[in-house]
Order: sequence, then C-alpha cells, then structure tokens
Amino acid sequence: MLEGAAASFDVELKRIGGADAWRILAEEGYELKKKPDFVLFWDKDLRLAYELERQGLRLYNPAAAIEACDDKTLTWLLCRHAGLPQPDSFISPKKFHDDGLSDPAFLAAAADRLGFPCVVKEAFGSFGQQVSLVRDEDELLSQIRQIGERPYLIQRYVASSEGRDLRLQVVGERVIAAMLRENASDFRANITNGGTASDYTDRLTPQQTELAVRACRVLGLDFAGVDLLFGEKGEPVLCEVNSNAHFKNLYDCTGVDTAKEIMTYIMTSRN
Ligand SMILES: Nc1ncnc2c1ncn2[C@@H]1O[C@H](COP(=O)(O)OP(=O)(O)O)[C@@H](O)[C@H]1O
Ligand SMILES: [Mg+2]
Repeated sequence: MLEGAAASFDVELKRIGGADAWRILAEEGYELKKKPDFVLFWDKDLRLAYELERQGLRLYNPAAAIEACDDKTLTWLLCRHAGLPQPDSFISPKKFHDDGLSDPAFLAAAADRLGFPCVVKEAFGSFGQQVSLVRDEDELLSQIRQIGERPYLIQRYVASSEGRDLRLQVVGERVIAAMLRENASDFRANITNGGTASDYTDRLTPQQTELAVRACRVLGLDFAGVDLLFGEKGEPVLCEVNSNAHFKNLYDCTGVDTAKEIMTYIMTSRN
C-alpha cells in the first residue's frame, strides 16, 4: 500500500530490509554515498534509525519518536509529564538478571494503590499478547516472575473500558480515521486477539481527537495509531501509542487509506 501510494506521487519507494541496510552501511564505511530524499522507517531498529539520522536523513517517524512509543514505560512517563490522562501506573525497576525475586515493597505498594484486578503490561509488546489482568497478589507475583528481567508496568485497570477501546489513526496532527474495537470474551480489545471493529470516525468527540493528536505531538510522531480507553464518565484515557501501527484492518473497517495519507503528508511537508 505504501509503495502504491508513493508511486502515485512519482516517488520511487525502495524497500530495504534491516539486514540489507546494515550491510550497505558496512560496505560503504558508514557514510552512505547516495542518500535518499527521505526514509519511511517501517521498523523499530533504533540503532539503525539513529545511525541513519546521524547521516543527515529525515526519518518518518523520527528515531526518538519510535523509541518513545516502542517502550510503553517511556510513553507513559513522557505523556504523564505532559499532563495527558492515563491509567495510574508503577514502572518496573531495572533488573540486570532474573533473580526470581521482585522487590516485595514495590509490588505491595503497587497493589495497595492500584487495587485488584490490575493490569500488568510488558514495556515491549504488541497485539495484546504481553498484557494481562491479575486478580490477586499471587497472580501478580507469578506474572512478575514470568516476565523475568524484561521491563514492565503495573497499571490501574479501567473497568469501564472492559473489552472495548478506540484506535485512532493520526497523520500529521490530524485524525484521519478511527475504529471502535470490542471483544465480549476478553478485556483486551485488539482485533488480532479476536476483537471486532466498527467505523468510529464520524462519532469521535473533540476530546478524543485532541488527546490522540496531543499524544503524537508530545512523542514527536509524524503519524501513529493511538489507543484510547473509555474512562468512568466516558472520557478518553490514553492507553498506548503505536509508531508503526498496522493499518490494513483500519482500511477494511473504514475505507480510509492510511498509506495514501502518510505519503501525502510526507510530500506536502517536504515542499
Ligand atoms: N489499563 C487498562 N485498563 C483496561 N484495559 C486495558 C488497559 N490497558 C490495556 N487494556 C486493554 O488491553 C489492550 C492491549 O493493551 P495495549 O496497551 O494497547 O497493548 P498492545 O501493544 O499489546 O496492543 C488494549 O487495547 C485495551 O483493550
Ligand atoms: Mg494496543
């Protein structure tokens, strides 16, 4: 879809895999001879992203924005300090090796403040696969043990949003489409986890639109898929932000072509 959209602007978008990019860099002594006009960085290899930026290339999205999104703990902190509404969270302490233990005072404080059930989320994860609901202290402890040395956050469960969320696609400070995702048998609304989608674009409130756009601005994104939860009074609560959001489901649901919007945004922002 991205290649097709680029072609409609007479732009040759050349697909280069991560391994090929690193091979070319090595072969050219880490100084690219022929530089592209821009890089549509559809990857999360941060070393590669930062290296390409060091070579003077403009990346869509920028390396720092991809980094801020990929790590849910970093997303949460940046958005927290920008005053965006999110579920209260405890960020895991760094572990250098999995000693099978967790700081009991940290877990007790999280359980005490967030209550049960609460959500345990790995910092790096997608499709709802690294997100779980824990019902008591035993479940919390076993979930944390299973995560081992990987970073995570413990988050307040937004019960008013059970099995329901919104995915808004932002491109260049504009929400181009949105879908309501629902799952009657799981608290996670991800489509890849069995959820269903319906077009929500015309039902968006100004508060929902504004929160998604503000999150992208705070994180330095050109475009992103933003997940919003429904708070107790229906108010939007930021769940997470995806710098490399898949958009085929959104296209099937809403008919809005994110690839075309992204290419249009890149071409107009370059002129
Ligand atoms: N704090 C929360 N309260 C209620 N539901 C949540 C919460 N966090 C996540 N969810 C649900 O779990 C899904 C997956 O979580 P998310 O943070 O988006 O991770 P992923 O990157 O795996 O999609 C969300 O789409 C939402 O339906
Ligand atoms: Mg998500």
